[in-house]
Amino acid sequence: VRTLKVALLGCGNVGAQVARILIDDAEALAARSGARLELSGIAVRNIESPRDVELPRELFTTDAHTLVKDADLVIELMGGIEPARSLILTAIQNGACVVTGNKALLAQDGPTLYEEADKAGVQLSYEAAVAGAIPILRPIRDSLSGDRITRVLGIVNGTTNFILDQMDTTGAQFADALAEAQRLGYAEADPTADVEGHDAAAKAAILASLSFHTRFSLDDVYCEGITKVSAADIASAKEAGFVIKLLAIAEKIESAENGSGISVRVHPTLLPREHPLAAVRGAFNAVFIEAENAGELMFYGQGAGGTPTASAVLGDLVSAARRLVLGGPGRTETTTGHVPALAIDASTTSYYIGLDVA
Ligand code: HSE
Repeated sequence: VRTLKVALLGCGNVGAQVARILIDDAEALAARSGARLELSGIAVRNIESPRDVELPRELFTTDAHTLVKDADLVIELMGGIEPARSLILTAIQNGACVVTGNKALLAQDGPTLYEEADKAGVQLSYEAAVAGAIPILRPIRDSLSGDRITRVLGIVNGTTNFILDQMDTTGAQFADALAEAQRLGYAEADPTADVEGHDAAAKAAILASLSFHTRFSLDDVYCEGITKVSAADIASAKEAGFVIKLLAIAEKIESAENGSGISVRVHPTLLPREHPLAAVRGAFNAVFIEAENAGELMFYGQGAGGTPTASAVLGDLVSAARRLVLGGPGRTETTTGHVPALAIDASTTSYYIGLDVA
């Protein structure tokens, strides 16, 4: 079996979980990829920083550049623009496939990076950049490529959804809810990016670009965060049968005043309490898509946090590894069949699936 070297850049909440799963689940990942995925090193700024997961010390290095040069697959989870951008470009130029969760970088420089990856014939994947664990980019890019998306509504920032939900249900103060979101590992290093809507705006640009086959960058996104939403606003909305959600919206607009085009924006939005997105509680995310032929679709799941986001990273990694192994676009289906199908007698199960979204 071929061995593929995997370089991990960054070891925060998500990076540490990715490293843990690569080590703990090595056998299953190899079976699904068709290659052994060997974690060759983890580049960090400070080797001594405390981490959530205990990892072999010899994996750590501060020399990201050398690590990248020797890798078949590079996972970039450092965040920020530089040095992430240069390291990704080096990886691509060396023929490595890249998996990143860096929404800010993609929203700013995505087009250059995609172009470079295309030129080099390598895969650049970023499912983890939008809505954490929720598989949303691939469905938009692949499954819906024969349809026409007309509107995307997303709760794509777990921190702000958590804060608004706490304010709505428990009457919590903004600052306390934010501190709790930080403690749970949902918030960005600088939570201003969450509460001012910048994180959601970066994700909106990525979602809009894929949904409408156009290149949107952060500058194209109107952005208003939740810092001006008061407890009184939430209470009045509640009384009138609404909930306030921070939504990322991308939609086709045709109006006499504004002409026609795609509007991409992030702002606090009133939603009727019966809307499916109103049921999205805590730090959960959801993306609601309206398409000409498919109609309405909703994708729901954990949009933040180390382990859920690591799931999306590893999905991209396995898919990139398959592509390297097969030298083509990769298999779309896994038939390794490790888990036997259960013969379930319907009378022993319930037909009810609880709405356990708290
Ligand atoms: N700070 C982000 C959030 C993390 O709260 O959703 C996931 O991108």
